[in-house]
Amino acid sequence: MSTAKIIDGKQAAARVLDKVKREVDELKALDIEPALAVVLVGDDPASHVYVRNKVQRAREVGIRSVEHRLPANTEQTTLLNLIDTLNQDVKINGILVQMPLPLQIDEASVIQAIRADKDVDGFHRENVGGLVLGQPVLTPCTPSGCLYLLEQALGDLSGKHAVVVGRSNIVGKPMAALLLQAHCSVTLLHSRSVDAPALCRQADIVVAAVGRPEMIDASWLKPGAVVIDVGINRVEHEGRNRLVGDVDFDNALSQVSAITPVPGGVGPMTIAFLMKNTVRAAYLQYPLPAQPAAH
Ligand code: GUN
Repeated sequence: MSTAKIIDGKQAAARVLDKVKREVDELKALDIEPALAVVLVGDDPASHVYVRNKVQRAREVGIRSVEHRLPANTEQTTLLNLIDTLNQDVKINGILVQMPLPLQIDEASVIQAIRADKDVDGFHRENVGGLVLGQPVLTPCTPSGCLYLLEQALGDLSGKHAVVVGRSNIVGKPMAALLLQAHCSVTLLHSRSVDAPALCRQADIVVAAVGRPEMIDASWLKPGAVVIDVGINRVEHEGRNRLVGDVDFDNALSQVSAITPVPGGVGPMTIAFLMKNTVRAAYLQYPLPAQPAAH
């Protein structure tokens, strides 16, 4: 019988959102209504679902959200003009442009156009650089949510060996930077790593963010490891669509001390940290007393 703890991301996200809601109420008492602008270009069905969820969650915590929907054939200059307007709008604290963008638009230029202190995704160069330098900048939502889950599961992460599998700009790289800041020894694995399973077996903490269904099984894991699975992969199983992570959950369960499920693990944390970042952005933009300490 496995005694592994299944980490409940929905419950953890609810705790984060509770605190965000209290902070929103405090800002409203100062006559500030935190607001998030969400920009969606085109008709990608998954993006529509993500945006709907973000807007819904914002409403639940009292953050005003403003949706901008642009057609798939929107030119880059039109989008950049909208971002410029939102940058200058003092009533907008956070700007999120849902990715991916249509091919005629250069994502990097769009990210750089967003004011760094309104970049609630934490993708702007200034925020990426600030994170690496250990400055108190806006940090990407998914890895920030993963760090929260790890600290809840393990407490102090100092001295732990963390292995991050996958080197994307959105998850892998910022995750490695956050874990380093939390005083872990960090190994970042990728497609050119030699004997990735052997390196991964040394880890106290594994964060899987590769986008390959069930790639990591018990043979990659040290007994007692804590596993955070960022993957959300849609697979056909017995004629039905099913969501699985990058970790073979059932197989890993006997080996780990704690693991996130898919769905219901990291997913809810991403939106919770988007709301948290929107409140942080409001604090960055107003000359207010210091924001209350984190969690
Ligand atoms: N598309 C998939 N994930 C993300 C994300 O974290 N932020 C944005 N803006 N778009 C995404």
